[in-house]
Amino acid sequence: MSPPLRIGIAGLGTVGAGVAKLLADNAELIARRAGRPITVSAVSARDRNRNRGVDLGNYAWVDDATELAGRDDVDVVVELIGGSDGPALTLARRTIAAGKAFVTANKAMLAHHGLDLAAAAEGAGAPLKYEAAVAGGIPVIKGLSEGMAANRIARVYGLLNGTCNYILSRMEAERLDFAVVLAEAQAAGYAEADPSFDIDGIDTAHKLSILAALAFGARIDFDGVATEGIRAVELADIDQARALGFRIKLVGLAEHDGGTLFQRVHAALVPLDHPLAAASGALNAVAAEGDFVGRLFFQGRGAGEGPTASAVVADLIDIARGITGPAFGMPVASLAPLPRADAASRRGRYYLRLTVTDRPGVLAELTAALRDHGVSIESLIQRGHAASGDAMVVMVTHVASEAEVLASLAQMAGSDAVTGPPVMMHILDF
Ligand code: HSE
Repeated sequence: MSPPLRIGIAGLGTVGAGVAKLLADNAELIARRAGRPITVSAVSARDRNRNRGVDLGNYAWVDDATELAGRDDVDVVVELIGGSDGPALTLARRTIAAGKAFVTANKAMLAHHGLDLAAAAEGAGAPLKYEAAVAGGIPVIKGLSEGMAANRIARVYGLLNGTCNYILSRMEAERLDFAVVLAEAQAAGYAEADPSFDIDGIDTAHKLSILAALAFGARIDFDGVATEGIRAVELADIDQARALGFRIKLVGLAEHDGGTLFQRVHAALVPLDHPLAAASGALNAVAAEGDFVGRLFFQGRGAGEGPTASAVVADLIDIARGITGPAFGMPVASLAPLPRADAASRRGRYYLRLTVTDRPGVLAELTAALRDHGVSIESLIQRGHAASGDAMVVMVTHVASEAEVLASLAQMAGSDAVTGPPVMMHILDF
């Protein structure tokens, strides 16, 4: 058998400890599959004394993670520190400059610096791999870059944040308000240290920008992701959506029409019979549409020790086998700088919820605003709004452009009968 592949692990949180545990527990099987043992030489974390439930006694301890890059007994650095900049980025640059393989779960760093790191990796002949960065244990990076490599991909979308999926699923199942469930998600350890990255859609946007680059052969454009989270979603929306045959999910959606790139993260109404609607709790799910393969659907656990460690070690096995293509499926110079699509002209159906004073003529004002901008109503429900005591009006539109719907909403918002900010959600019709 060939000599071992020797790794250094930076960051020993849930995932780092999970990688050490997985490499120890399945060592013999992994060596047979990889053609060589994969061993840990050195580890680094902030707190040396914390009990992590795994024996780290045989590994060298390094206080400054960035030193892992220069160690002679480390062939591959596994970065599990997190953060788009700081030590994670320094470690990435040093490892790659040293011509060593770099494996990371750091979606934020890739969204911001992925192209530079990939270009440096190409220049240095160093593998850069990141299966764990998107959708945890689901092999969606491999799915897109290898399984779908022969296809033109027109659309990739899915549920990329377990925290949001958990919150929305639990609000629906237990009839709880958003704030209560967010506190639970933090206690359960799903949410990021700063939960706004989860609930404001930023984590999903990081992951989506990476998937879009891979799927479309495009340069990463994280700043081009129109990003909204789930703070505005109320239990009333979940109930009304359900009554209309939908479930609300935080969807990351990227489309490439051959010319432009559209990327959006938004709370959307997903038809109950769509496979995304069935991915509940903290699950992640990704759908991708290829011109020859059709729609592929991936589902599984997107976070946590076991799934994320599984993805990291899959990358290590590839490196041990010598299977490492360009980080984003083609050389960085071949990735296209796609212009951003015009969101205003996109057409679709919309869910609108307004909180209004319950008096004669209000409904007529609302429907007039839609009429004035050429938007036709498919269905309309009026109920008492428990939170405010006012009336809640929910409308589903027929297909209209986003610009028309936004103009209608702006007109409605100008009415003194509208007592709260209007809520608009997209309906997933594909
Ligand atoms: N906070 C992320 C999530 C963890 O909730 O999905 C995995 O990236």
